[in-house]
Amino acid sequence: MALAACGSDPAPEPVEQIVVREPGAAPAPVEAAGDIVAAGRKAFAMCTGCHVAKAGEPSAAGPNLYGVVGRAAGSLDDFAYSEELAGSGITWDAASLDRYLADPQAAVPGTSMSAGAVPDDDRRAAIIAYLETLRE
Ligand code: HEC
Repeated sequence: MALAACGSDPAPEPVEQIVVREPGAAPAPVEAAGDIVAAGRKAFAMCTGCHVAKAGEPSAAGPNLYGVVGRAAGSLDDFAYSEELAGSGITWDAASLDRYLADPQAAVPGTSMSAGAVPDDDRRAAIIAYLETLRE
């Protein structure tokens, strides 16, 4: 007895994209949404000289960034902020973080964050996506 061939069209194959990188080439820009937090966590290495990002840890050369998204700028009790940041009226969200991290001195003239600017748009977006995960 012969089996009838299945008449329905096969589902479209998912298109796979294979990115080939030259050894030693610059890392590909951050694109895949799924990887953006991981990329941001990695890029955050440039911040850890001054910032911790774990709940309950004391601030270091910079304020603890755990829970920073949604927090009023300059509001941790255990950190001596500049008057400029403390008085900025900013509540940190993706847009204000984007401006501050692109160029801290331009966003908040007089801020004591003297290093750590992230001019690269993709890298900044990844770091902000990572900062957004630093909450309960
Ligand atoms: C050289 C040390 C240093 C580095 C590196 C640095 N920061 Fe900062 N950061 C500071 C200091 C100091 C402040 C407090 C600024 C003020 O009071 O004006 C600050 C403040 C901040 C704030 C505001 C926090 C709050 O509680 O209002 C954010 C957000 C921030 N930094 C993010 C980052 C990120 C993300 C990086 C890495 C891309 C980074 N910083 C790198 C020193 C640093």
